[in-house]
Amino acid sequence: MKQKTVLITGGAGFIGSHVVRRFVKSYPDYRIVNLDKLTYAGNLDNLSDVDQYRNYGFVKGDITDACFIDELFENHSFDAVIHLAAESHVDRSISGPMEFISANIIGTVNLLNAARDNWDGNMGEKLFCHISTDEVYGSLGDNGLFTEETAYDPRSPYSASKAGSDHMVRAWHHTYGMPVIISNCSNNYGPNQFPEKLIPLAINNLKNGQQVPVYGKGENIRDWLYVEDHAAAIDLLFHNGITGETYNVGGNNEWRNIDLIRMLCEIMDKKLDRVPGTSSDLITFVKDRAGHDLRYAIDNTKITTELGWKPSVSFEQGLERTVDWYLENEKWLKAVLSGEYKSYYNKQYRER
Ligand code: NAD
Ligand code: DAU
Repeated sequence: MKQKTVLITGGAGFIGSHVVRRFVKSYPDYRIVNLDKLTYAGNLDNLSDVDQYRNYGFVKGDITDACFIDELFENHSFDAVIHLAAESHVDRSISGPMEFISANIIGTVNLLNAARDNWDGNMGEKLFCHISTDEVYGSLGDNGLFTEETAYDPRSPYSASKAGSDHMVRAWHHTYGMPVIISNCSNNYGPNQFPEKLIPLAINNLKNGQQVPVYGKGENIRDWLYVEDHAAAIDLLFHNGITGETYNVGGNNEWRNIDLIRMLCEIMDKKLDRVPGTSSDLITFVKDRAGHDLRYAIDNTKITTELGWKPSVSFEQGLERTVDWYLENEKWLKAVLSGEYKSYYNKQYRER
């Protein structure tokens, strides 16, 4: 394997930490530099098992700081970037959109500019892998799937900011010849996800005997993928993807929120030795999310047929593993639930 220095942004977050771990362990000849601002969602404990590896280094910094990003690129000879750093929670984008515009659009452009300045004359050897979301395609009705050709129709400040970042990445490709690959993935779940997102929030509340807030009637549908399968897809795209192409990533695994939560309740009753039905009594329907997208579903034909990727973890298996991880990692959970989380939670759910 050729030696490479790879910048991974957002590596202390949920998906980023799984990508960093996979690359550090699988590619000892690569030097992996993890750049993360360590926002409320970034947590170096996510990487405690690899932080002593010789091919791993961490840099604390903000992608919205153009001077800092330029210096970082000057100080390291990056061969490639895997860009995950972003503000990622839809509800937070509704109450405070500016952070999303700044981190997701300006931050991405700063990275593209620095890469362009430093890679000028040598672009053929380089790669900018941009990790995006299926939410850029908008909301589906009862039928149909998002393909790579689906027109963009983002409907929340978060998805609009991610769509903006995708457009910037494509613009740098077409205008300046930046070698890029874009992936648009469906909902991830698994260990290390910050408990503001549906699955870890529900696990934590069920564990503590607290109500589980389900928005609206719980009829919205998401297509769930185990986070390690997403990390495997990113690895494959990084090594075998075609420059300039977009790949949709998803698990063919659509669930109505209410059905997912009921399944989680059954698992929690079993794991916690509770009388069946104890957990489902905690389900509480609350005021809907503003502009709540009804359904996301990915057509993953391109990545499965052209690159041979397929999800390896079934939903039942993945959910059990996820529940076990949260039950076994009380210290991690306690640490992330202290401080900022409490005020966020009270504000977000008080009026519902
Ligand atoms: P996350 O919120 O768990 O992690 C984001 C990370 O980015 C954190 O470590 C945070 O500290 C860092 N970060 C945020 N702003 C930064 C800044 N200005 N400078 C440097 N670092 C900054 O998010 P996630 O769920 O792991 O998502 C990672 C990426 O994957 C995002 O780009 C997201 O849009 C995309 N994505 C997520 C999902 C999902 O289901 N979670 C699905 C598809 C795509
Ligand atoms: O589709 C990919 C996207 O998936 C990623 O780009 C985002 O970063 C990620 O956060 C996720 O977005 P969602 O909005 O789909 O995820 P979330 O976990 O916030 O919500 C999942 C569904 O559950 C959604 O229909 C809203 C609903 N929900 C969520 C929360 C937090 C509830 O019913 N109650 C809740 O308390």
